[in-house]
Amino acid sequence: MLSASLFESYDLKGQLLKNRTVMAPMTRCRAAKGDVPTDLMAIYYAQRSTAGLIVTEGTPVSPTARGYLWTPGIYTQQQIEGWKKVTKAVHDAEGRIFMQIWHVGRISHTSLQPDGRPPEGPTSELSPETVCFAFDDEGNPGNVPTSKPQALDEAGIKRVKEEFVQAAVNAIEAGMDGVEIHGANGYLFDQFINPLINTRTDNYGGSLENRCRFLLEVIVAVGNKIGFNKTGVRISPNGRFNVIPEDPQLQETFVYLCQELDKLDIAYLHINDQTTFGNPAIPDGLLAQLRKAFNGTIIVCGGYDAEKAQSTLDGDIADLVAFGVPYIANPDLPARLENGWPLNEADQDTFYGGDKHGYTDYPHYQE
Ligand code: PHB
Repeated sequence: MLSASLFESYDLKGQLLKNRTVMAPMTRCRAAKGDVPTDLMAIYYAQRSTAGLIVTEGTPVSPTARGYLWTPGIYTQQQIEGWKKVTKAVHDAEGRIFMQIWHVGRISHTSLQPDGRPPEGPTSELSPETVCFAFDDEGNPGNVPTSKPQALDEAGIKRVKEEFVQAAVNAIEAGMDGVEIHGANGYLFDQFINPLINTRTDNYGGSLENRCRFLLEVIVAVGNKIGFNKTGVRISPNGRFNVIPEDPQLQETFVYLCQELDKLDIAYLHINDQTTFGNPAIPDGLLAQLRKAFNGTIIVCGGYDAEKAQSTLDGDIADLVAFGVPYIANPDLPARLENGWPLNEADQDTFYGGDKHGYTDYPHYQE
């Protein structure tokens, strides 16, 4: 059978994507006071709406879910109203957009938490050598060491689950086409999944089943509320970002998780390879094992160019390919990839925070 082109449309559980490129979720820290999305954010996302699918930047589900200054939230009415401008702009441009819903777990700082409380984690162990973007002792924004967390008890786990469900409901109210639950990159669920971080002795720690339980329960709760066809999840097997230690049972962990996800008929499984973060790659063969375990739509992300993306589709390793940094610098990325046009370079200094500079002022290609 002839495999599909990266530039062919794709049926994502009844939602037609105009090509198989995905704009990866990327933190840009440009929300207004109250972590409210701005008109500039609507322009930014609309400019990129030739992507088959846009996944928004990580969007905290509650005040305690925050791990950065100025990340747009989805737990107040003003935030919902702000996101409505984003979804309208994207839909007017015939794009599709899922919101990545996020809780950072222990990768946070007391200055970001309500009443200066400790961040919430699987345990009360301080994450060694991690920083987050918060206020320092003088009240200036900058990278500060993460604070010692407080372990979530079972009531806290139940509350966070409810916060994810409410965030998903809010995202749909804001006009999102679906949500992606952030299970990757060393944040809350990745902390629970990792056997060296999660030393809990209750139903949410210890065995493989227990460590994956929180994420799976959240997916089920969200799927039951807004529809599994609108619920995706992102994972990062072998990721070390945010000082996640190497999982001695890497393969068992993620094959099990994907087998469980396979039972849920979710919108997609998004697999992030952290090579571009300077971390080890997903080991050879693991992606193929995950593909075997999970029969639904798979998105892969991390260091792809047009050629590698197409060979990934040809090799039937994934269905869709996400691009991160190339989408920051190239609002018209699909056209550039399809026509072999040169790519703009991304300016790292304007990735986080600031104004339109390095955000909405990257040019389209001109012949
Ligand atoms: C980042 O800001 O570098 C970042 C945020 C969220 C992620 C990954 C990276 O999931």
